[in-house]
Amino acid sequence: MSSFSTIDITSRREYWSSMYTDPLIAGVLLSRTEIDAQMSRLAVQLNEDYAGKKVTIVPIMLGGMIFCSDLVRKLSLDMIIDPISIHSYKGTESTGSFEVLLEPQQPMAGRHVLVVEDIVDSGKSIQFAKEYPQKKDPLSVKIVALFSKPARRKIPIEADYTGFLIPNRFVVGYGLDYDGRFRELPDLCVLDESKL
Ligand code: IMP
Ligand code: MG
Repeated sequence: MSSFSTIDITSRREYWSSMYTDPLIAGVLLSRTEIDAQMSRLAVQLNEDYAGKKVTIVPIMLGGMIFCSDLVRKLSLDMIIDPISIHSYKGTESTGSFEVLLEPQQPMAGRHVLVVEDIVDSGKSIQFAKEYPQKKDPLSVKIVALFSKPARRKIPIEADYTGFLIPNRFVVGYGLDYDGRFRELPDLCVLDESKL
């Protein structure tokens, strides 16, 4: 039996100062060590839940790319990786209206789909990402999200597996970007929005 459960750090208000010198980075909200430890627990749970099943891992690009690449290397499952890229119309908040820029290429019939997302905000992206594969007739579709900002939810939806509940701050690093930047930072950092 595995012991995975979501870690709630919504009340964390102190950020570690860090080696990041860019003034837009206020500090580290979650270190790479904390992220890695929780991902290992998540992987144990997924290995248990999907043992013996054919799995299609669908990372949502680009945000889910770094998380997915670390996660799959902790899994021992019969899997293929088949990314999707979706574009939501409008600027800072998603509208719920999506265009699929990159479509998963492989058949999903007879397979269990695990959509891998970086962060759940309003909930619109995972709602779309959960419905979209259904037309390919998979055996199941579940969502794995590393981070979630519950304070921002507009749609009552949760991922099936959530790594961390985090405060309502704009975060970057570990795959998440601000205007295309900072995806490569190994830690999850808070953006200093007063400096934008
Ligand atoms: P939702 O559709 O509103 O749930 O938004 C989810 C998407 O918004 C994620 O896939 C991210 O691309 C983006 N997003 C939401 N919050 C943040 C954040 O704090 N930093 C970076 N990207 C974010
Ligand atoms: Mg995204």
